[in-house]
Amino acid sequence: MNLEIDSARLLSEIEALALISEAEPPVVTRIVFTPADMRARAWFVDHCRAAGLAVRQDAVGNTFARWQGSNPAAPAVGTGSHLDAIPNAGKYDGVVGVLGGLEAIRALQRAGFHPNHSIELLLFTSEEPTRFGIGCLGSRLLSGTLSGDAARKLRDSNAESLDEVLRKAGLSGKLEQVQLPRGYYKAFLELHIEQGPVLERERVPLGIVTKIAAPASARISIEGAGGHAGTVLMADRRDALCAASELILAIENAARTSGSIDTVATVGMCEVFPGAINSIPSQVRISVDIRDTDLARRDGLMCAMETAVKQIRDRRSVSVRIELLNADAPAECEPKVMDALAASCRKLGQKFLPMVSRAYHDSLFMARIAPVAMLFIPCRNGYSHRPDEYASIEDIARGALVLAETLASLSA
Ligand code: GLV
Ligand code: MN
Ligand code: MN
Repeated sequence: MNLEIDSARLLSEIEALALISEAEPPVVTRIVFTPADMRARAWFVDHCRAAGLAVRQDAVGNTFARWQGSNPAAPAVGTGSHLDAIPNAGKYDGVVGVLGGLEAIRALQRAGFHPNHSIELLLFTSEEPTRFGIGCLGSRLLSGTLSGDAARKLRDSNAESLDEVLRKAGLSGKLEQVQLPRGYYKAFLELHIEQGPVLERERVPLGIVTKIAAPASARISIEGAGGHAGTVLMADRRDALCAASELILAIENAARTSGSIDTVATVGMCEVFPGAINSIPSQVRISVDIRDTDLARRDGLMCAMETAVKQIRDRRSVSVRIELLNADAPAECEPKVMDALAASCRKLGQKFLPMVSRAYHDSLFMARIAPVAMLFIPCRNGYSHRPDEYASIEDIARGALVLAETLASLSA
């Protein structure tokens, strides 16, 4: 089989998609179900149909583009990723897995390959947590990790419910029907930029992911007492922002001293009320994102955070409410699917590195219903979630080629 990736076409598609954004280039912002995301979805569906794929959407907008195999009743081989992008993002996160997957399918078609198992390309809804506060919305529902009822209760920052947003997006099915049965996929593969520096540093062009780190996230609201910045004496203050600051540093310290480089913790959001230069902050809301490849260690950090909350609360006479948003278990990739990727790399003469994924992906949840593996390509300086995120077309095409070869071996 003469498998060839059309790099020029793939690059032009990545560039075209980057222009479907709520922000000016080079910034990409594509929050789920905004007009930009809707246009990107329509663009994707058109391109899948042009490749002869049969497209369907489920009730949450997960989009499946299927290349029917000669044995349609057999479990499909899935691949895919997401097109939504956080505010101030770049062009490659998620996109490489979706468009690389599409080009891998087209390369197989051009090579005259006929799959026995159907090959299905997935576009997951809302891998990013920006709008509804929870990441991997589509794959959580697909894997039964999130119930339809719990999903319906989600609201965005304008208090618009997921139901309402879906209705406006023209989606009216039952969220209960999104879940896929175990065995629906024979295997699921996700191609993605590494989003970290390891491959570039080691000068290895491909990474085969062995496990995906487990994220936990929470919103913490701190209530103290406000007042005049000039007249309230320091000894009488219950400054909510000072309490939050201590907590943020306690969380950072707990992550730094966990004993493993796999432990990371981030406070990425901080809302201060009332937010005036001459007013003592009375209320603060922060977000916390804690991750680890080891569930017990990750949970240990959550406990350390709760201990710090109690100490700071008592010492500073503030009240603190912790709202846990998610606390997911890490995923192990499936040896057979990793072996299939490794065999493709060897066949194509490509070096690869086994590695962990510190970012989460829809594959984290697909692993609950399917044998999963991920293929990483390098990105410059490990930058991601920023506008200067960059992966070379050579690296992207190499990833798409290994993906195509692996889809062929798994679907034969
Ligand atoms: C995914 O975008 C993540 O935050 O890991
Ligand atoms: Mn991302
Ligand atoms: Mn991603």
